Amino acid sequence: MRLRQYIERTAARLEQAGVHCGHGTSNFHDEAIHLLFGALGLDYARSVDEHDRALSGPERARIESLVRKRIDERVPVAYLLGVAWFAGHEFLCDRRALVPRSPIGELIGNRFEPLLPEAPGTILDLCCGGGCIGIACALQFPAATVELADLSQGALDLAQENISLHRLAARVTTRRSDLCAGLQGPYDLIVANPPYVSRQEIDTLPREYRHEPTLGLDGGGADGLELVARLLGQAASRLSERGLLILESGHSAVALQERFPAIPFLWLEFEHGGSGICALNREQLQKLASSGLRYGGPFP
Ligand SMILES: C[S@@+](CC[C@H](N)C(=O)[O-])C[C@H]1O[C@@H](n2cnc3c(N)ncnc32)[C@H](O)[C@@H]1O
Repeated sequence: MRLRQYIERTAARLEQAGVHCGHGTSNFHDEAIHLLFGALGLDYARSVDEHDRALSGPERARIESLVRKRIDERVPVAYLLGVAWFAGHEFLCDRRALVPRSPIGELIGNRFEPLLPEAPGTILDLCCGGGCIGIACALQFPAATVELADLSQGALDLAQENISLHRLAARVTTRRSDLCAGLQGPYDLIVANPPYVSRQEIDTLPREYRHEPTLGLDGGGADGLELVARLLGQAASRLSERGLLILESGHSAVALQERFPAIPFLWLEFEHGGSGICALNREQLQKLASSGLRYGGPFP
C-alpha cells in the first residue's frame, strides 16, 4: 500500500471511530496527514512528492501502533509525536502543557498589523504553556526581549526546552508567576491565552482534552472567566505607554462581553479560522481598572 492509500484509510478509520479533531487540525484527512507524516518524519512541505511512497514493514507497524493509541486512548496527535507546529515553527509538546492551537499564530505571522504601529521591544507571553506564542513572537521580532510566564513549573520547563530548541536563550526567559503578580514590565505587547473554560464545560469536552493539564483549561468561577477578569484588572500596570494586550477567550468571548458590557473590546477577525481574541490598549485598560465597579464588580 502506498502512503496516499494509508492516508485515506487512516482518515476513514479516525472518522469511523469518532475521534475529535480540535488539536491543530479541523478534519480527518488533515489529522491523518499530521499523524502519518509525523510518524514517518516526512516534510509536510513536500507532501505531494511523498504520496506515492511505499511503506516498509517497520513503518507500517509504527503507524498502526500510533493510530491505535489515537483511536483507543484518544491521545492527541501532538502528544503521540512529541512535537507540534505553531505559526510555522516546530515545538516540543507533551502533557506538561496544552497542545498549541491558538489563532494568535495568524496574528504573529502578520506581525500584529495593523494593531501594532511599530515592532515591540518587550513582549510578555502570559500563561505561556510550552512557550509557543512567545517564542514565535521572538522569531518574528528579532530585536525584542521576551518573557514567558506561567504558574505551572512543568509548563515552564517545557518552555525552556523550546527556548533551547530555537536557540533563543539570549533574549527569551521564563518566569513562574500567578498571572502578572511576579512580573514588572513594562511590556510593549502582552499576549495572553489564559484558561477560560468553566468546570462544568470541562466535564463535557471530548476525551482528547482529558490528556491535557486541567490547569490549562479551567478558568475558574461559574463562567470560567475569573482568571480573565483578574488579568484585565492587572494588565494596564504592566504595559508601556504604547502597550497593547492581545487576549484570547475563545468561545467564552460572548460571556466575557456580557459580563463587562462597557469594555470596548476590539474582537479580531481571522483569515484561517478562529475567533474570541480581542485587543485592548493601555488607556482602555487603565480606565477599566480604575472604574472596575462599573464593569461588573471590583477586580481582585
Ligand atoms: C490555555 S493554556 C495556554 C498555553 C499556551 N500559551 C498556548 O497557547 O498553547 C493556559 C496556561 O495558563 C497557565 N495558568 C493557569 N493558571 C495560571 C495563573 N494563575 N497564572 C499563570 N498561568 C496560569 C496554565 O498552566 C497553562 O499553561
